[in-house]
This record gives sequence, C-alpha cells and structure tokens, in this order.
Amino acid sequence: MNSNYIAFEGIDGSGKTSIIENLSDILNSQNKDHIIVREPGGTSVGEGIRELLLSHDYQVNPLAEALLMSASRAQLIQETVKPSLDSGQIVITDRSAYSSVAYQGVGRELGYKKIYELNDLAIKSIWPKKVVLLDIDPKVSLSRQKIVDRIGSGEIEFFQKVRSGYLQLAKEFENDFLVLNAEKNIDVNIEAICGWLEIDNSK
Ligand code: TYD
Repeated sequence: MNSNYIAFEGIDGSGKTSIIENLSDILNSQNKDHIIVREPGGTSVGEGIRELLLSHDYQVNPLAEALLMSASRAQLIQETVKPSLDSGQIVITDRSAYSSVAYQGVGRELGYKKIYELNDLAIKSIWPKKVVLLDIDPKVSLSRQKIVDRIGSGEIEFFQKVRSGYLQLAKEFENDFLVLNAEKNIDVNIEAICGWLEIDNSK
C-alpha cells in the first residue's frame, strides 16, 4: 500500500518544491490521480502548528519542536494520507517523518533512533515507501534560498548534520531511497525519478 506514498526530502534550498511541481505536471498529463501534501502542515491543525514552528516570533526548544512536528504529522496521516492511500491514490509529500529524523534527531541532536521511534508512533508506522533525497552541499543550498523561516535560518554546521542524518537514513533504508545530486540539471533529475518510479515520461 505504501508504495503509492512518495516523499521528497532534502535540506532547505535543495529544490524539492520545483521537482514536485514538475512531477505533478507529468502525472496530470497521464491522468494519474494524485494529491500533494506538505509537512509540517497539510491540514488545518497542521497549518496552525506550522505557524508556531516556523515563525521567527517564537523560540521553540528542540524537544518541543520534535513533538510539534510529529503532532502535525499524526493529524495529516490520519486525516489525509491514510484515507487517500486506502482509496488507491498516489500521495506525494513535500517532507515526511524522515525530515524529523534528520533535522530533530541528528541536526538538533535529540537522537536518530529516538526520533525515529517517536515518529513511528505518530504515523502508525506508515512510512513513505519511495523517498527521493535531493542531496546537496549546504554551502550551495543556503545561497539558493529566498524566503528563510526560523529553522531554515540555522547555521551551516546544523545543515551539515542534517545532511549526514539524511545520508544515514538512505544507507539504512537503501531499498526505499533514491539519492540524487540536487546540483544537477532539473530535467536530468526528473528523468531519473520517473525511471525509478516507473512513470512514463516520453513526451
Ligand atoms: P519546508 O516547508 O519544506 O521548507 P523548505 O521548502 O525551505 O525546505 O520545511 C520548513 C522547515 O521545517 C525546514 O527548515 C525543515 C523543517 N522541518 C524540520 O525541521 N523537521 C520536520 O520534520 C519537517 C517536516 C520540517
């Protein structure tokens, strides 16, 4: 069932959003029914939590940050992701529980395993089965960014840790992850993604 659950992951400025838009256009051109959600957020409860998490007006401590991320996710999974997957739809998510393992677990040093377990509880073990990791050097990605939220405005050392967390996940779950170089041309990466997801991209 979870093989229809596709996540895009990467540090801030890795270009997930443009890749998702491109993939969505391809799916639409083939009348492939799909929904796109984002984390944190994606539901009205979740969007409220997102505001708390990303606004520069609040100083959220790391543990509260991890718990709020997982709370937003618990709501999204129950309200949207699970029912959509159950009805046979493709669900594309801009970030997933894997973001928390990388950002809160490794970046904030709350513990890879602990944050994995916390999220496993929050999502009732519904992990995306296809994860595209857009890997990039933080020095490059940070210079690409336009609007910077509270978490995205962290130090370069923080993003280096987040990146290493992602690479650790990709190694542990190598059957579920596709790691791409986010500095490559977008068309090259889209082709690789379509090939991996077995989506026909012949125009
Ligand atoms: P996002 O909206 O994807 O921002 P961007 O498009 O700039 O990457 O994510 C917002 C921020 O939240 C981003 O800095 C990553 C962070 N984040 C976490 O720290 N943990 C999480 O579990 C999630 C989902 C996001």
